[in-house]
Amino acid sequence: MTKFTRRQFIRTSGSVIAGATVAPLAGLKNLTVAPSDTVNVALIGCRSMGFGDLENALRIDGVHCIGLCDVDRNVLEDRAADIEEMTGERPQLYGDYRELLENSDLDAVIVGTPDHWHCLITVHALQAGKHVYVEKPLANSIAEVDIMKKAANHYGKVVQVGQQQRSGEHWQKVVEVVQSGRLGKIRDVNLWGNFGYGAGAQPVDNSSVPQGVDYDMWLGPAPDRAFNQNRFHGSWRYYWAYGGGVQTDWGVHLLDIALWAMNVDGAPNSVHSIGGIFSGLNRSMEVADTQTTTYAFNDYNMTWKHTGGLEMGPYNRHYGIAFVGNDGTLVVNREGWEIIPVMDQDDHPRIEPVPFQEGDSSYHDVHAHNWIESIRGNETPNTPIEAGHLAASYAHWGNLSYLTGDTLKWGRDGKLVDEHEYADIIKPDYRSPWTFPSV
Ligand SMILES: NC(=O)c1ccc[n+]([C@@H]2O[C@H](COP(=O)([O-])OP(=O)(O)OC[C@H]3O[C@@H](n4cnc5c(N)ncnc54)[C@H](O)[C@@H]3O)[C@@H](O)[C@H]2O)c1
Repeated sequence: MTKFTRRQFIRTSGSVIAGATVAPLAGLKNLTVAPSDTVNVALIGCRSMGFGDLENALRIDGVHCIGLCDVDRNVLEDRAADIEEMTGERPQLYGDYRELLENSDLDAVIVGTPDHWHCLITVHALQAGKHVYVEKPLANSIAEVDIMKKAANHYGKVVQVGQQQRSGEHWQKVVEVVQSGRLGKIRDVNLWGNFGYGAGAQPVDNSSVPQGVDYDMWLGPAPDRAFNQNRFHGSWRYYWAYGGGVQTDWGVHLLDIALWAMNVDGAPNSVHSIGGIFSGLNRSMEVADTQTTTYAFNDYNMTWKHTGGLEMGPYNRHYGIAFVGNDGTLVVNREGWEIIPVMDQDDHPRIEPVPFQEGDSSYHDVHAHNWIESIRGNETPNTPIEAGHLAASYAHWGNLSYLTGDTLKWGRDGKLVDEHEYADIIKPDYRSPWTFPSV
């Protein structure tokens, strides 16, 4: 039973950046909710994806939005009006998440800010005793994802990471097929994400801060820098201080599935990444528009590739994963999956082909439902902190190798070799008065 119309949902759902595709309404169970099952949520970072996450949560009986927080007053007012129209109740509005976290009626927060804010807000929310849904990538650096994992385990609250594909049935099916051995020995796992947005933004001059925006609070722990519309809403992901480009933005979604299917729970043997800003389009960006990262394992390779701006790719898909086995290749993305068999010399397929199977698109709703039911103690998160930590670490190792030109390796002690040489990339230097959290 859903609370809102499909029209309302589509009107307010997020952009296509980083896969915020429109999810149709899922036929979620109409639970009879006891007062003790009421979950009061608030959203921090309301403009795009976070608001989609909130809408998904609000479709579940017993979930109430009691607060919205954003550093852009214009976004805040618009979203408050949206919530009021949907629920008939106006949430309390905040410009500083620390005040929101003091609200003792609040059970849980959704963190929908740019990546450079995920760590501080998540750790502070856990310390305030709130459950968290934090968008992907878990954070914008390796040290931040490490401390977030520690905090999640230490404070014992429910943390769901916004790698929502794990809640999708066709992704679960694909993982099952890969793990069943049906494709034969897997020797190559290729991941690619060729999106139009990956080529950067049209350059614009610095300008004054728009009215209603607390830009100092938007920057938060990131270095002070003049305001530029490109380094702000939506397109912040092209600049290292706030995001990591397509490698982290979309990389985590696909790495998450690849690592899960291949049963990986630690570092690979090595990581090497090459690329640059090669499009020649003179767009505004710091991150790579063209990048190839190779993760070496004992008996297979895993590769991430993006060529921003070119909406085309292998198997006629502009993004996806190909699990290449001796007997067949499984190709998957959000649209669906198929198995292409290897043909023997006598032209016989080594395994049964599987024609294109359409993917289900209800996983955004299922993911929110799974988060709320985990808070209620009835389920456990489909994307726990460990999965968010692993996918983000792989993506950040790719960018670390790209930025330094070094091949990353791990010692017998499990530590990254020469880690101290990368200290300023691994751990951001937080701008005062913000300090790196400790747990
Ligand atoms: N899971 C997915 O498929 C998916 C899809 C898209 C985006 N995302 C993730 O969602 C997050 C948000 O991305 P977006 O595209 O919605 O960004 P956006 O720039 O459109 O929105 C971010 C919002 O956060 C606000 N904000 C910034 N600092 C804040 C602070 N300190 N306190 C409160 N509000 C603050 C901004 O004003 C803005 O309204 C990112 O981490 C992104 O990677 C996930």
